[in-house]
Amino acid sequence: MQQPLPTVLGNGVQLLQLFQNILSNAIRFSRPGAIPRVQISAQPYGQGYLFAVQDNGVGIPRAQHERIFEIFQRGQSSNDTPGTGIGLATCKKIVEAHEGAIWVDSEPEQGTTFYFTLKAA
Ligand SMILES: Nc1ncnc2c1ncn2[C@@H]1O[C@H](COP(=O)(O)OP(=O)(O)OP(=O)(O)O)[C@@H](O)[C@H]1O
Ligand SMILES: [Mg+2]
Repeated sequence: MQQPLPTVLGNGVQLLQLFQNILSNAIRFSRPGAIPRVQISAQPYGQGYLFAVQDNGVGIPRAQHERIFEIFQRGQSSNDTPGTGIGLATCKKIVEAHEGAIWVDSEPEQGTTFYFTLKAA
Protein backbone atom coordinates (compact mmCIF):
# COMPACT_ATOMS: atom_id res chain seq x y z
CA MET A 1 0.00 0.00 0.00
CA GLN A 2 1.31 3.44 -0.87
CA GLN A 3 0.81 6.63 1.05
CA PRO A 4 2.38 10.06 0.63
CA LEU A 5 5.09 10.85 3.17
CA PRO A 6 4.95 14.07 5.19
CA THR A 7 7.40 16.95 4.93
CA VAL A 8 9.74 17.28 7.90
CA LEU A 9 11.92 20.00 9.38
CA GLY A 10 15.67 19.52 9.38
CA ASN A 11 19.00 19.58 7.62
CA GLY A 12 18.45 18.21 4.10
CA VAL A 13 21.90 16.68 3.71
CA GLN A 14 21.69 14.91 7.08
CA LEU A 15 18.14 13.67 6.53
CA LEU A 16 19.16 12.32 3.12
CA GLN A 17 22.01 10.48 4.81
CA LEU A 18 19.59 9.09 7.43
CA PHE A 19 17.20 7.67 4.83
CA GLN A 20 20.07 6.42 2.65
CA ASN A 21 21.62 4.47 5.53
CA ILE A 22 18.36 2.93 6.72
CA LEU A 23 17.17 2.05 3.21
CA SER A 24 20.50 0.61 2.06
CA ASN A 25 20.58 -1.61 5.18
CA ALA A 26 17.02 -2.78 4.45
CA ILE A 27 18.10 -3.86 0.97
CA ARG A 28 21.55 -5.22 1.89
CA PHE A 29 20.38 -7.41 4.77
CA SER A 30 17.70 -9.13 2.75
CA ARG A 31 16.88 -12.78 3.28
CA PRO A 32 18.28 -15.18 0.67
CA GLY A 33 15.37 -16.55 -1.33
CA ALA A 34 12.93 -13.79 -0.38
CA ILE A 35 12.14 -10.87 -2.68
CA PRO A 36 13.28 -7.79 -0.70
CA ARG A 37 10.33 -5.61 0.30
CA VAL A 38 10.76 -2.28 2.07
CA GLN A 39 7.85 -0.22 3.29
CA ILE A 40 8.23 3.36 4.47
CA SER A 41 5.40 4.90 6.45
CA ALA A 42 4.82 7.81 8.81
CA GLN A 43 2.18 8.70 11.36
CA PRO A 44 1.59 11.81 13.48
CA TYR A 45 3.58 11.65 16.73
CA GLY A 46 3.75 14.53 19.21
CA GLN A 47 4.82 17.70 17.38
CA GLY A 48 6.02 15.68 14.40
CA TYR A 49 5.99 12.24 12.89
CA LEU A 50 7.01 8.71 13.66
CA PHE A 51 8.59 7.06 10.62
CA ALA A 52 8.77 3.31 10.20
CA VAL A 53 10.99 1.56 7.67
CA GLN A 54 10.04 -2.08 7.55
CA ASP A 55 11.83 -4.84 5.66
CA ASN A 56 11.41 -8.59 5.28
CA GLY A 57 15.13 -9.33 5.64
CA VAL A 58 17.29 -11.48 7.92
CA GLY A 59 16.28 -9.67 11.11
CA ILE A 60 18.40 -8.79 14.17
CA PRO A 61 18.58 -10.80 17.40
CA ARG A 62 17.15 -8.95 20.41
CA ALA A 63 20.52 -8.98 22.21
CA GLN A 64 21.96 -6.76 19.45
CA HIS A 65 19.21 -4.16 19.28
CA GLU A 66 21.15 -1.53 21.23
CA ARG A 67 24.66 -2.46 20.15
CA ILE A 68 24.00 -1.92 16.43
CA PHE A 69 23.66 1.84 17.08
CA GLU A 70 27.22 2.00 18.41
CA ILE A 71 30.04 2.89 16.06
CA PHE A 72 31.86 -0.01 14.33
CA GLN A 73 29.40 -2.57 15.73
CA ARG A 74 28.18 -4.89 13.04
CA GLY A 75 25.65 -7.62 13.68
CA GLN A 76 25.75 -11.35 12.98
CA SER A 77 23.71 -10.82 9.85
CA SER A 78 26.54 -8.77 8.38
CA ASN A 79 29.15 -11.54 8.21
CA ASP A 80 28.94 -11.93 4.44
CA THR A 81 27.96 -8.33 3.67
CA PRO A 82 30.65 -5.65 3.36
CA GLY A 83 30.33 -2.56 5.54
CA THR A 84 32.08 -0.63 8.27
CA GLY A 85 29.40 -0.34 10.94
CA ILE A 86 29.09 3.44 10.97
CA GLY A 87 25.69 3.72 9.24
CA LEU A 88 23.40 3.39 12.25
CA ALA A 89 25.73 5.29 14.60
CA THR A 90 25.49 8.18 12.10
CA CYS A 91 21.68 7.79 11.90
CA LYS A 92 21.39 7.98 15.69
CA LYS A 93 23.57 11.12 15.78
CA ILE A 94 21.49 12.76 13.06
CA VAL A 95 18.12 11.92 14.63
CA GLU A 96 19.27 13.08 18.07
CA ALA A 97 20.67 16.30 16.59
CA HIS A 98 17.10 16.86 15.36
CA GLU A 99 15.80 16.19 18.89
CA GLY A 100 14.25 12.90 17.86
CA ALA A 101 14.69 9.27 18.84
CA ILE A 102 15.51 6.11 16.86
CA TRP A 103 14.97 2.48 17.79
CA VAL A 104 14.53 -0.91 16.22
CA ASP A 105 12.06 -3.75 16.44
CA SER A 106 13.18 -7.03 14.91
CA GLU A 107 13.15 -10.80 15.16
CA PRO A 108 15.58 -13.05 13.31
CA GLU A 109 14.03 -14.31 10.04
CA GLN A 110 10.96 -12.09 10.57
CA GLY A 111 12.36 -8.84 9.22
CA THR A 112 13.21 -5.53 10.81
CA THR A 113 11.47 -2.23 11.43
CA PHE A 114 13.45 0.91 12.23
CA TYR A 115 11.45 3.69 13.91
CA PHE A 116 12.52 7.32 14.19
CA THR A 117 10.84 10.59 15.03
CA LEU A 118 11.25 13.89 13.19
CA LYS A 119 9.63 17.30 13.53
CA ALA A 120 6.93 18.52 11.17
CA ALA A 121 7.91 21.21 8.66
N1 LIG B 1 17.60 -3.81 8.06
C1 LIG B 1 18.46 -4.62 8.70
N2 LIG B 1 18.25 -5.96 8.75
C2 LIG B 1 19.12 -6.77 9.40
N3 LIG B 1 20.23 -6.36 10.04
C3 LIG B 1 20.50 -5.04 10.02
C4 LIG B 1 19.63 -4.10 9.36
N4 LIG B 1 20.15 -2.86 9.53
C5 LIG B 1 21.26 -3.02 10.26
N5 LIG B 1 21.49 -4.32 10.56
C6 LIG B 1 22.60 -4.87 11.38
O1 LIG B 1 23.14 -3.80 12.14
C7 LIG B 1 24.54 -3.69 11.89
C8 LIG B 1 24.96 -2.23 11.98
O2 LIG B 1 24.42 -1.49 10.87
P1 LIG B 1 25.24 -0.26 10.28
O3 LIG B 1 24.42 0.37 9.22
O4 LIG B 1 25.68 0.59 11.43
O5 LIG B 1 26.56 -0.92 9.71
P2 LIG B 1 26.81 -1.67 8.32
O6 LIG B 1 25.60 -1.56 7.42
O7 LIG B 1 27.29 -3.04 8.65
O8 LIG B 1 28.02 -0.83 7.71
P3 LIG B 1 27.94 0.62 7.01
O9 LIG B 1 26.55 1.17 7.25
O10 LIG B 1 28.98 1.42 7.72
O11 LIG B 1 28.22 0.37 5.58
C9 LIG B 1 24.73 -4.33 10.52
O12 LIG B 1 26.04 -4.82 10.38
C10 LIG B 1 23.70 -5.45 10.53
O13 LIG B 1 24.20 -6.60 11.20
MG1 LIG C 1 24.63 0.32 7.10
